[in-house]
Amino acid sequence: MDKIILRGGNRLEGEVRISGAKNAALPLLAASLLAENPMYFTNVPHLRDVTTTIELLGQLGARVIIGERMSVEVDATDITSLRAPYELVKTMRASILVLGPLLARYGEAEVSLPGGCAIGTRPVNLHLKGLEAMGAEIEVEEGYIKARAPRLKGTRFFFDQASVTGTENLMMAATMAEGVTVLENAAREPEVSDLAECLNRMGASISGIGTDELVIEGVDRLDGVEHAILPDRIEAGTYIAAAAVTRGDVTLQGARPGHVEAVIDKLREMGAEITLGGDWIRARMDRRPIAANLRTQPYPGFPTDMQAQLMVLDVLAAGGATVTETVFENRFMHVQELQRMGAEIELSGNTAFVRGVGGLTGAPVMATDLRASASLVLAGLVAEGESAVERIYHIDRGYERIEEKLALLGADVRRVPA
Ligand code: UD1
Repeated sequence: MDKIILRGGNRLEGEVRISGAKNAALPLLAASLLAENPMYFTNVPHLRDVTTTIELLGQLGARVIIGERMSVEVDATDITSLRAPYELVKTMRASILVLGPLLARYGEAEVSLPGGCAIGTRPVNLHLKGLEAMGAEIEVEEGYIKARAPRLKGTRFFFDQASVTGTENLMMAATMAEGVTVLENAAREPEVSDLAECLNRMGASISGIGTDELVIEGVDRLDGVEHAILPDRIEAGTYIAAAAVTRGDVTLQGARPGHVEAVIDKLREMGAEITLGGDWIRARMDRRPIAANLRTQPYPGFPTDMQAQLMVLDVLAAGGATVTETVFENRFMHVQELQRMGAEIELSGNTAFVRGVGGLTGAPVMATDLRASASLVLAGLVAEGESAVERIYHIDRGYERIEEKLALLGADVRRVPA
């Protein structure tokens, strides 16, 4: 298995281009299953989760053409299978996103139940409850969700807990249901809105985009369109954090500053100087970070996907801070590894108490999940001596060529194949 070797201490400087968003690309690729003719996506990030989704679409019988400059065409006109197999779903939970579209368009779907996950139990009960409310019959047999509905029916559904992929799945299903569906306490993440806007251009009728109440009027058919994937706000946040942690000066190109506001506010509180343009963000830091409390929240609050990375700034800060994770249980897998590099963190339930230390020391550490791995890379950028981040396949799920991008900014980093 590949690892990333870092020698800490270099200040990051220069420009980096932000890739298309993983969490926007996955539901959009799944939405191709709803279209009666090909979909054409641009700005698709080259990531393992995207490859897995493309493989899944291929197994269902869709024709996928990967073009130049990160374009992907998906022709799902002649689907030959309605089953998402365990082998693929176990490597990527977001495979559940094919359930809504398959059921809406073909009246039937079988999707392996995603198993456990490093960041908590992460159930899919709300996806299933919502589809049942739309009239689907759902059984779980031999580890598979088996869903049937000759035609889904519009309904009013309240999410007990706002769920990003849950909202996306039900919204896609509702586009082709009979009548009107109202999704209450829906997730408001930019990726949900991007999907809704694309679905509308395909012929769907969705209103309330960007709010927590989505109203979807079912239609009979949807057409293929061209769609550019929006920039990845979590990748952007991670590079801003990398600039701050190394006391550097980095400009992100091709970003959407409006989607990163909560992270920018926090980094300013921590002492970073951040300037914004229409599609760029410049982050500078010339001091030791100021400790700041973090509390994760659904969008537009501070994102759980940035918790691990910003914790590294608290680890290095002057002072102490609490980091509270409210979205996922057990999302502190990075803590033990950061402790191995010298961090002082105490865990109690969903809260981490961080006492800032002046510096970290390099160590071999293990990546456990996607964002935890990013935090270890950030720590390695400043730690004294050499760090080796193992099990780097986690990071390849969500960061495009991270070692190349960091090296271009001046980091001493390389990937070592196993
Ligand atoms: C998505 C993102 C992930 C991000 C997360 C929260 C994608 C592909 N992934 O994950 O990067 O960390 O949003 O911003 O977009 N829940 C239930 N029942 C359900 C569904 C969810 O109880 O049926 C709970 C979860 O356990 C969690 C909370 O709801 O506590 C939010 O999870 P959710 O928004 O569904 O996360 P994902 O969509 O899986």
